[in-house]
Amino acid sequence: MPSTDSINAKIGVAAPAELCSDELKWNPWAYDAPREGARLPLYGAGASQWDTIPASAPVQTEIPERYRSMEPKEIVDRIGTAKARLGARLVILGHHYQRDEIIRWADFRGDSFKLSQQATSRRQADAIVFCGVHFMAESADILAADHQRVILPNMAAGCSMADMADEAQVLACWRQLGAALGGAGDGAAVVPVTYMNSSAALKAFCGERGGVVCTSSNATRVLEWAFERGERVLFFPDEHLGRNTGTKLGIPDDAMVVWDPRRPLGGNSVEALRGARLILWRGWCSVHARFTVAQIAEARRRYPEINVIVHPECRHEVVAAADLDGSTELILETIATAPAGSCWAVGTEINMVNRLAAEHPDKRIFCLDPVICPCSTMYRIHPAYLAWVLEALVDGRVVNEIVVADHVKAAARVALDRMLALPGSRAGAAARR
Ligand code: 13P
Ligand code: SF4
Repeated sequence: MPSTDSINAKIGVAAPAELCSDELKWNPWAYDAPREGARLPLYGAGASQWDTIPASAPVQTEIPERYRSMEPKEIVDRIGTAKARLGARLVILGHHYQRDEIIRWADFRGDSFKLSQQATSRRQADAIVFCGVHFMAESADILAADHQRVILPNMAAGCSMADMADEAQVLACWRQLGAALGGAGDGAAVVPVTYMNSSAALKAFCGERGGVVCTSSNATRVLEWAFERGERVLFFPDEHLGRNTGTKLGIPDDAMVVWDPRRPLGGNSVEALRGARLILWRGWCSVHARFTVAQIAEARRRYPEINVIVHPECRHEVVAAADLDGSTELILETIATAPAGSCWAVGTEINMVNRLAAEHPDKRIFCLDPVICPCSTMYRIHPAYLAWVLEALVDGRVVNEIVVADHVKAAARVALDRMLALPGSRAGAAARR
């Protein structure tokens, strides 16, 4: 329902049944690793709270006590002062899933595709503060000029889906595909495509093997490109974006197989792999896994005139039951340009849906999921961390820098550039059924 309250304000007053976890009321530093002592192996409160986190996931150590105990008003004043002092030396990027208390400071807002381009557009800025998640900051570092330093305010802001495919697992998959499909051990019959939501190492893997990166805004165009170069595509790490895109391209269900990295041959027979056109990594987003066909049916029952728009990370049956699907940017543009009085049920992260509702009080906009459950990792970026990294910059210190090693950067850049060079790669982002 339209509201001007941020999700944080709503969480503050919500009853337990309205939240997916009581821990949403905790401060994010409850999950930071104490300077002395064991780390807490958790993504943090929210949708990925119950996902397994790999031991290699970056850790945020406790930020200085003065930031943890600051009143919200002082944090706002300090961010404002530091930002003003840094001026054009600083650019702040904000993904749509960031909390309002962060997004208000963003010079640019966008989806991961748009932000990766904007990261490169302000060359006079020597600090890019990326209020998003780890893979986005890595992509910014790959695309940034040499003098630009990329900063992630909370190092534990990863992505549980990106963590579902690591380099060793993908290399093992590639070797097995090579052996099974006759690619002389190098998987030659397969073009690798990685979703933007993946580590720089996996983007480099694709760059070195004739592959490419895609985002939710250009996956259709990118898969077309890949199928012009090979008869099969290995798509990771999101099974659902891969399946939804494959379906848009007319690939039949029985030509899409799922690769489970924990099983030999991904759990497939050699015959099944030979018959496949799209090999989908078994990975998912726990935010979008919450949306169901039953929620869509309930929204249609309550509001027969409703438009249902979802992100393509949702399961296939959910996307099929919706009216439209597309990237966060496309969801935003579609609703912003819709007629006054129109009614929208949205299947994506709650901070973005809540903000859309607040910004368009002339439309009825609500989240398909009635329970408040933000992306755990986006939610790790609290204004206290932003104040900390900005004040450090004012003092001439760079904290929480994201640095992609040069050799990884070069190969990952190849895969990203292939995507960025595709004509009309942003077209076809939405499909109206
Ligand atoms: P977008 O590229 O659509 O912003 O998606 C990124 C993401 O992480 C969605 O869960
Ligand atoms: Fe990752 Fe899902 Fe969060 Fe997007 S919403 S950053 S895919 S966990």
